[in-house]
Amino acid sequence: MINLQGVKPFAEGGNRICFIHPGDKNLCLKISKQEVIKKMYSNAPWYKKLRSEKSFDDNLREEKAYKQKAIKKNTEKIWQHLAKWYAFVQTSEGLASCTELITNNDQIAPNLEEYLFSKGRTKEINKALKEFEIFLQETKLLTKNIIPHNLAVKESDSGLILKIIDGLGCMSFIPLPEISETFANRYIKRRIELMYSRIDWDLSGRKGSWK
Ligand SMILES: Nc1ncnc2c1ncn2[C@@H]1O[C@H](COP(=O)(O)OP(=O)(O)O)[C@@H](O)[C@H]1O
Ligand SMILES: [Mg+2]
Repeated sequence: MINLQGVKPFAEGGNRICFIHPGDKNLCLKISKQEVIKKMYSNAPWYKKLRSEKSFDDNLREEKAYKQKAIKKNTEKIWQHLAKWYAFVQTSEGLASCTELITNNDQIAPNLEEYLFSKGRTKEINKALKEFEIFLQETKLLTKNIIPHNLAVKESDSGLILKIIDGLGCMSFIPLPEISETFANRYIKRRIELMYSRIDWDLSGRKGSWK
């Protein structure tokens, strides 16, 4: 059991609270917010309630998403742009997903939203986005809509590298992209288009709908 009492989270998203592992500064511990799971379940349409309340837990959904075909097929390459997922671990604050913490010189890497708000669409980030786009098309890694705060910006000798830290999985109710390559290509093309729309929307003051 890992004791997180008194440990300050380094970040918090809509669904999870993130800590640096007290025993290993290269690991991230993410704990789902129970009140969010309960709320999602109670607001869900009847057919989604056929699943258990647990199936609304982002940590459990994510673990399943890490078992997708693209990850099994691209065992080495996939980690260039995806944080590693290690295990579930018990903590004093509840069950946590233990994942790779993305850092730059021992500092937690900024997410893409933070990067864009402070630096804008630099040449370096445009190159990183293009490489990420090609990676998605080549590996056919399935993600939900790619939102800038779910990508970490890692610095490397060859430039900036975008790493997925949240939002892995498939949005389709029936996961055809997991089954068919044609559907996967179409699905990924749409995720890339929407990723750029969301970036433009973020940078232009978030007016109207981003889709
Ligand atoms: N592995 C990680 N490495 C570095 N920063 C991370 C990592 N995971 C999460 N973060 C930071 O924490 C924030 C919230 O984490 P996230 O997993 O997106 O939570 P949620 O599921 O609630 O959206 C991210 O936007 C990012 O800034
Ligand atoms: Mg998130």
